[in-house]
Amino acid sequence: TKFRTSKPTQIPGLCFRTFNTSPQNNFHVAVLGASGGIGQPLGMLLKVNRLISKLTLYDLQHTMGVAADLSHIETPAKVKGFVGKDKLCEAIECANIVVIPAGLPRKPGMTRDDLFNKNASVVRDLVACVADTAPKALIGIITNPINAVIPIACEVLKKKCKLDPRRVFGITTLDIVRANTFVASLSGVSPLEVNVPVIGGHSPETIIPVFSRATPGVKVSEDKVKTLTKRIKEAGTEVVKAKAGTGSATLSMAYAAARFTNSLLRGLAGEKNVVESSYVQSDVVCDISYFATPLVLGKNGIEKNLGVGKLNKFEEDLVRKALPVLKKNIATGCKSESRYW
Ligand code: NAI
Repeated sequence: TKFRTSKPTQIPGLCFRTFNTSPQNNFHVAVLGASGGIGQPLGMLLKVNRLISKLTLYDLQHTMGVAADLSHIETPAKVKGFVGKDKLCEAIECANIVVIPAGLPRKPGMTRDDLFNKNASVVRDLVACVADTAPKALIGIITNPINAVIPIACEVLKKKCKLDPRRVFGITTLDIVRANTFVASLSGVSPLEVNVPVIGGHSPETIIPVFSRATPGVKVSEDKVKTLTKRIKEAGTEVVKAKAGTGSATLSMAYAAARFTNSLLRGLAGEKNVVESSYVQSDVVCDISYFATPLVLGKNGIEKNLGVGKLNKFEEDLVRKALPVLKKNIATGCKSESRYW
């Protein structure tokens, strides 16, 4: 089977007072870490999403200002801010989707793994509250290191007997967004038309662009495939360096998370054949319990995992090299979680 794409042809879910034909448009989305570099532009893109009627914003700081600001935008979503740990559960209550960009970003010279000690406990505590307050919510996690943090989230949910692996997602959409942009600029095709599947995980060793299955049949020479693969793997670091100590990708990440959330919403709303890739608990690759692949999304989250599909020799080698790194990251996540209980 070919990878199918559910890529929007415009900004995800953008409403700007357009006529709404969707069967359901009253979903509640909660953003945890809403005052940060990603959280603020993500909040704005969600405020203009026509499928959202309620947007709750939670952070340890500054959320009331962000919420007041966004609430003046002339779209139906009602915005409410929550600040401080004692407000967390209230922010999450009855949410259909919880998106988590809370946690430290990288500085130059840091790898995503360097963030683990700080961000592991942030995600653990936030997900524990989701388990107690909105156990049916779909959870989309942006916080790095994605490869280890998603196993933590799943372990927390498992311990609370609330794990439904169809509902927990590591948001890797930015890797796809970047691959599409870079390939489009090289091939002259509009970036809105290109779809390059990216599988594996979310770190230089584990991001695996699958050019052999890019649509529409984009021809990229072998040399260019190597250069582009390297650029996509290291694109996050390109931004970290350019920002020179002030953080990592925020605006493109907010766009990617808005696109991903919009796909979750379309699935919840009953739309058919919504396909989006994500790093999830999975058994599509032998001997590895988490892997990013294209997924069909529906009313309960993952409806079907489309798997890695057919790969060429170059891509198979990338998978082979990624597996031991991913395994180690997953073990770190699972092990650290058991320490907390
Ligand atoms: P930031 O530092 O600008 O914002 C983080 C926000 O989280 C802050 O407002 C902070 O107050 C809040 N926060 C921290 N601990 C919290 C807690 N326990 N509860 C609620 N809020 C809390 O960071 P930025 O740039 O927004 O990045 C956020 C995360 O996203 C980082 O871990 C970064 O590495 C990751 N990221 C992931 C990408 C991906 O492709 N998945 C791409 C880019 C960044």
